[in-house]
Amino acid sequence: MKIGIHSVSSQSGRAYLVDFIAGGHEVYGYSRRSDNGERFVTTVLQQQGIFLERSDSGNRESAQLISLNEDNVGHDLNKLVAESDFIIVAHPSHFVQETIKQLKDAGILNKRIPIILSPSRTFAVPYLWDILGEGYPFVCFSTNPYSCKAPTDGSVFIKRRKRSWLVSLEGEFKPYQIDLLMQLFPQALVNQIPATTSIGNIGAIFHPTAYLLNYAAIVKAEQDGDCYSFYTKGIANNGPVARHLEQIDQIRLKIADMLGLTVFGLADSPNEDRFQLIMDHLRVKEEQVDDIDRLRQIRHDYLREINDSILSAQHWLAYTYDVERVTDEGLAGAISRTKTYHNRSYPQVRYVEEDVPTGLVPIMAIGERLGLDVTPIKQIIDLHDQFFNRTDSTDWRDLSEFSTDFILRYLKGEYFKIIGDVEDKEVV
Ligand SMILES: NC(=O)c1ccc[n+]([C@@H]2O[C@H](COP(=O)([O-])OP(=O)(O)OC[C@H]3O[C@@H](n4cnc5c(N)ncnc54)[C@H](OP(=O)(O)O)[C@@H]3O)[C@@H](O)[C@H]2O)c1
Repeated sequence: MKIGIHSVSSQSGRAYLVDFIAGGHEVYGYSRRSDNGERFVTTVLQQQGIFLERSDSGNRESAQLISLNEDNVGHDLNKLVAESDFIIVAHPSHFVQETIKQLKDAGILNKRIPIILSPSRTFAVPYLWDILGEGYPFVCFSTNPYSCKAPTDGSVFIKRRKRSWLVSLEGEFKPYQIDLLMQLFPQALVNQIPATTSIGNIGAIFHPTAYLLNYAAIVKAEQDGDCYSFYTKGIANNGPVARHLEQIDQIRLKIADMLGLTVFGLADSPNEDRFQLIMDHLRVKEEQVDDIDRLRQIRHDYLREINDSILSAQHWLAYTYDVERVTDEGLAGAISRTKTYHNRSYPQVRYVEEDVPTGLVPIMAIGERLGLDVTPIKQIIDLHDQFFNRTDSTDWRDLSEFSTDFILRYLKGEYFKIIGDVEDKEVV
């Protein structure tokens, strides 16, 4: 299988590169001719590989060189399109329209290969269908499969690989394309309902609201050279912020409920018993094995129901980070019990640059179309306008060009289709 990575010089682009090469795949990683992109390509070609630093235990392990050559990385967009069976877009979502226009110019319509958005955030694909035509196959990841960094020009540090994540297939796919995708990402929980990734976009809940409501303190910490602990100080120890996040989260859950999806954590009908049953069942099964691949498979099989549902932020923490669910517990309490947030959860400006236009803005727009009171989101977007100068609004997903009928049909998955025959294997 030939895999293309768009923006291989990004943090996650590098993580994909090492895993695919180590997995024996043919890979081409494209990078822009930016300063960072050129430094990355030059360095890895000079050292004939990329250094992988790993951390399974929490401590950094010594770096290992993953060998590569000039066929694996470069600045040739035409090569990326010509030689790939899939292209993974490994950069923040607010750049995606620009990238898709460039891929169109490089001839991607002649190949119609699936494009993976890692992640898509909310309501990305209709904007991309405007460029490539309705039905073009997109694979939307709910999150990035890695927690990773780029410590030097020629290395990547993979702190954690996620055990499973949701994926929605959007547009028209050939059966062999879906088979290849499942081979490549066996941990993916795949469905055909865009709402699960769009409305399930948890970054839109955690990131921009806590960043903007704590903006003055974050700026001050930065000026003083202090570390501002985003999740602990900004949410867990800050009642008003945590409650504002919960209000926005409830809008998201109401949208999901109105779309007819199963919802866990909706104020009037939290569905706690069912959630507890699924999680208890999963834990019992997980305790019986210690092989990591088998554990992944068990998670994959037991979370099918949750896969097609929308979870509150607290339920998401239980499912993602094993923070046992305490019925009626608020977000501040659940975050204070989430180990991964205890250290080094620095605020990042992408929490606003990416998550406002591709998260809060489209969720507010969907809520408005459904007649919901979206005041808590509007207050945060007003704060954004106060603190940030918005110069470019091309990726501001306010849904103004889409009819309400289209929005609802898209979110429910009515534009997904299997085309071609099962035997229609173009790739061997
Ligand atoms: N890294 C993580 O641990 C992590 C965890 C969870 C979620 N995510 C999400 O995963 C996605 C990718 O994250 P990441 O950390 O891999 O990204 P990143 O390293 O922060 O991404 C920046 C990259 O975007 C590239 N880029 C492409 N088009 C661009 C444009 N028009 N303008 C500016 N830069 C452009 C840049 O390329 P150049 O190199 O050419 O400048 C740069 O490498 C994001 O949505 C992020 O929120 C990441």
